[in-house]
Amino acid sequence: MRLQNQIAIITGGANGIGYAAVERFAEEGARVILADYDAATGTEAAKHLHGKGYDVTFVQVDVANQESAQHLMEQTIKVYGGIDILVNNAGITKDAMLAKMDLADFQRVLDVNLTGVFNCTQSALPHLIAKGKGKIINTSSVSGVYGNVGQTNYAASKAAVIGMTKSWAKELGRKGINVNAVAPGFTRTAMVEKMPEKIIEQMTSTVALQRLGVPKDIANAYLFLASSESDYVHGHVLHVDGGIMM
Ligand code: CAA
Ligand code: NAI
Repeated sequence: MRLQNQIAIITGGANGIGYAAVERFAEEGARVILADYDAATGTEAAKHLHGKGYDVTFVQVDVANQESAQHLMEQTIKVYGGIDILVNNAGITKDAMLAKMDLADFQRVLDVNLTGVFNCTQSALPHLIAKGKGKIINTSSVSGVYGNVGQTNYAASKAAVIGMTKSWAKELGRKGINVNAVAPGFTRTAMVEKMPEKIIEQMTSTVALQRLGVPKDIANAYLFLASSESDYVHGHVLHVDGGIMM
């Protein structure tokens, strides 16, 4: 068991990549807080995993809201007594060409994808520092590394996550806390399914492995960065994208 008795919070854990990560971490012995905005799906998902014998607890959170992020950490301490691993996975898209993008949509994507990562990490930090060790994993994207048509807001948020990751690696290394990011490529979840089919096909053709990712591909990368196998990996952006745009 690679995460025996580790206490992990995974935001955006009700669906897609986050859900695959909750299951993967629980399989490896972690006690997992499945944190999500979507209470109905989150409660059902935690119940399902509990039924499989895993220690998973749902907590509702809006990562964009600082008080809500603080509440998430308080609940985690109440249920499990500490925090070892934080996976800042929650994210949204509101795609539009620059000329048509609403300011409100620009802002909301930054609020969730960027401020949300800040809120959760800042709220978790005293608990990680108290243990003198910990793992923070942030979710960037291929769009944050290379840019993408129709994703001014999203690409900006995901590029900024890389900047925060590297800053926190420099700041928190001396506290024994590893900070890394994963930059997934196009992965089969609801986020990708709502793209026009023509663009999905076009994107797939640019992947060296000639397929899109599946949630478990990304969950396995989170697992590596959460486990002791990656203790000397720090300030790194792990591209998990099948070899896109090399
Ligand atoms: N790559 C290349 N070309 C693209 C493109 C992309 N990702 N997205 C749009 N285009 C092209 C279209 O093919 C179209 O080209 P033509 O004018 O030659 O036909 C042009 O840009 C305008 O596109 P639309 O006609 O679709 O314009 P629209 O205003 O109706 O819609 C849009 C714009 C909402 C951005 C829509 O094109 C769209 O949803 N594109 C996909 C954007 C995308 O890639 N999103 C990624 C979502 S998954 C994700 O975000 C996860 C992750 O981290 C990677
Ligand atoms: P998804 O849409 O399947 O799941 C996202 C989850 O986040 C949902 O359960 C949703 O309820 C939750 N969420 C949204 N806003 C929230 C908020 N304010 N507070 C708490 N939870 C919230 O998306 P997917 O594909 O699983 O994405 C997970 C992460 O991976 C995101 O950060 C995304 O940007 C990133 N990513 C996804 C890629 C893909 O191709 N699917 C590629 C690169 C990065």
